[in-house]
Amino acid sequence: MSFEQEQTKRQTEINEIIQRYLPKEEGHYKTLMEAMNYSIRAGGKRIRPMLMLETFRLFNGKYIDILHPFMTAIEMIHTYSLVHDDLPALDNDEYRRGRKTTHIEFGEAMAILAGDGLLTLAFETAAGAYDKVDVKALDAPNIYRRIMRAYKVLSMKAGIHGMIGGQVIDIEFVGKSQTKDRLDMMYLLKTGALFEASMMIGAILAGANDEEVSITQSIAGDIGLAFQIKDDILDVTSSDAIIGKPVHSDEKNDKPTYVAIMDLARAKEEVSYVTDRARKAYESLPYKNEFLRELIIKLINRDK
Ligand code: IPE
Ligand code: IPE
Ligand code: MG
Ligand code: MG
Ligand code: MG
Repeated sequence: MSFEQEQTKRQTEINEIIQRYLPKEEGHYKTLMEAMNYSIRAGGKRIRPMLMLETFRLFNGKYIDILHPFMTAIEMIHTYSLVHDDLPALDNDEYRRGRKTTHIEFGEAMAILAGDGLLTLAFETAAGAYDKVDVKALDAPNIYRRIMRAYKVLSMKAGIHGMIGGQVIDIEFVGKSQTKDRLDMMYLLKTGALFEASMMIGAILAGANDEEVSITQSIAGDIGLAFQIKDDILDVTSSDAIIGKPVHSDEKNDKPTYVAIMDLARAKEEVSYVTDRARKAYESLPYKNEFLRELIIKLINRDK
């Protein structure tokens, strides 16, 4: 099987896992559930749960059942971040994952509430990992501790010390020219933080030690940074049909991006440079996961 076929297969498996945790579209406020499911079911590359799963495998994780709620939670948080990111008050985009954005389809109020719903449901879902622990198992206290640590990482990276912090800086930077260092700081938060959460949680739940978790965090931060620079590039080089969201959104919003402060060729070099740094740090770990290694490298050449 080629890498691409392998990736598609894993994406399908991840979708099946997520599907199990989606809310039923019924009751007095079923429109809310429809709006929540609309954005999740629209698809997406599922990179974050994939990185979580592959990192768990890298560290030879044993209890896969406790990972599934966290894989779903990170995708719910990521999806909510997109629903809110597209709102008129933020990037004001009308197209996402190849469909109309949630606020265009359901109205602005429902999009705000669907985002809130996905964020809170993410934590409810992750907390469900507790129920998957066999209380009679000898290492149960250890597993509970890992779950608690993972939960804390999820909260911190999604919140003011992570993605939300980055989104705030993104808004405050509008219309102002920036240095590369300041963009890196923003990217590490708005995009890097959820990548860090994904890989750190995979490592923590698999039982990696503190040093390994810390190396994992820096690998993930670099993958996220490269991912966002590439996102800036695709915003000027791709097409709506391929990326499933509007190109030239950054220019429309007067956002300082990598492609605004340097030419395209330099920005591409930066993606390769940062990815290579991630690859080297990854290879310093005494474990192997060939799919994960290839995934890290191939993200450079992604076309969506
Ligand atoms: C989009 O993330 C937002 C950024 C951080 C650039 P993805 O490119 O992972 O979006 P989906 O999940 O595939 O739609
Ligand atoms: C990342 O930035 C978005 C989030 C952290 C939610 P962008 O605003 O560039 O993402 P896209 O291009 O809309 O997917
Ligand atoms: Mg944005
Ligand atoms: Mg945006
Ligand atoms: Mg973008």
